Amino acid sequence: MKYGVVYYSFSGNTAQIAERIKAAKKADIERIETVASYPEDFDALLKQGKAEVERAFLPEIKPLNLDLASYDKLIIGTPTWWYTAAPAVFSFLKQHDFHDKEVVFFQTHGGEPGNAIQAMEAACPGAKFGNTMAIYFDYYHKNRLLTDTQEIDHWIASL
Ligand SMILES: Cc1cc2nc3c(=O)[nH]c(=O)nc-3n(C[C@H](O)[C@H](O)[C@H](O)COP(=O)(O)O)c2cc1C
Repeated sequence: MKYGVVYYSFSGNTAQIAERIKAAKKADIERIETVASYPEDFDALLKQGKAEVERAFLPEIKPLNLDLASYDKLIIGTPTWWYTAAPAVFSFLKQHDFHDKEVVFFQTHGGEPGNAIQAMEAACPGAKFGNTMAIYFDYYHKNRLLTDTQEIDHWIASL
């Protein structure tokens, strides 16, 4: 089974999980990058993120190198932004056709996961969805991982 991992990560939490999947599954991996960068200031980032989510804005993203068609299973990860997936992930999903593709979503969040998984699945008509996962990082305490690593590894093994 050939796995591809595609993810967006602003502050590194989603990247950490994506790398864990890569190591366990010998997956190819690629990070989604926006063309325009987001503000480093956290309050400004929250504000811009909210505005983008509210109007379903699709930021321009850099082209990916992975050939998605060459993977048996795609694992796609996002941070939660305002109870849904990050806008850059929707940009990525809208650029590809996932019909008949096996797709697994995961999200990282700070305690309020919202409907990110359902929203991403809705953006991939015709795909076959696998076992999803929500992973909790406490962003009030230096992004400490709150979900049990055993639970995460158990999920990865199930993919
Ligand atoms: C713009 C923005 C909006 C966020 N909205 C939520 C949210 O609605 N619910 C939540 O639990 N966490 C929210 N968070 C926290 C992130 O989802 C969480 O810290 C995530 O693990 C960050 O992943 P990253 O380090 O890969 O960027 C938000 C963070 C940002 C920057």
